[in-house]
Amino acid sequence: MGINIAIDGPAGAGKSTIAKMVSAEMGYIYVDTGALYRTVALYITENNIPDEDIKKSLENADVSLKFINGAQRVFLGDRDVSDFIRTPEISMAASRTSAIPAVREYLFETQQKIARENNVIMDGRDIGTVVLPNADVKIFLTASAEERANRRFKELSEKPNCPPYEEILEDIKKRDFQDMNRETSPLKQADDAILVDTTKLNLKESADEIARIIREKI
Ligand code: DC
Repeated sequence: MGINIAIDGPAGAGKSTIAKMVSAEMGYIYVDTGALYRTVALYITENNIPDEDIKKSLENADVSLKFINGAQRVFLGDRDVSDFIRTPEISMAASRTSAIPAVREYLFETQQKIARENNVIMDGRDIGTVVLPNADVKIFLTASAEERANRRFKELSEKPNCPPYEEILEDIKKRDFQDMNRETSPLKQADDAILVDTTKLNLKESADEIARIIREKI
């Protein structure tokens, strides 16, 4: 059994950037479970699978994850789809399809197996509550919706076709609502998770705070 660190929180709180920084510093594997849900969403979208057929069709989906030069890549069969799952369409599709119990069941064992076999920092929505309820450290990382939209806007404004701030904020609020109000494994802070609000912290301050909490606990 490896050392397991769970980081949950809403979209755009900085989970993946911070978890990557801290895991590199500590020599742990960083597991981005959102990428698995995005890969399933891509599979469902590309194949136009209606909701009622999802459970059956996942038997043939072959979603997997590999670590190449220390970085996680996600695969559909032998196709590396890591660079195709970051679009706004797939974000929304992942938020919707991740509410389907068959999708969560399908990814459950993949996540638990990695955590059994490695020291991991795993980020997601239900890691501390459902996937790794016995994690050594649980962190709930959040920031105000406005600040998360702000950060996303800054990131996108360097690229072509940046949507307006209001649209990004609406998307974030919609995803928060969907992720927090679904019946199966909703986004919520585990009773024994430590809350870290990064609204007023920069990346380095956030990463330092998380690393401090982990060191104190382990
Ligand atoms: O972290 P992310 O934005 O890449 O995740 C995409 C979607 O996947 C998110 O809207 C909710 C879902 N998700 C989930 O339900 N459970 C997880 N452990 C990770 C992600």
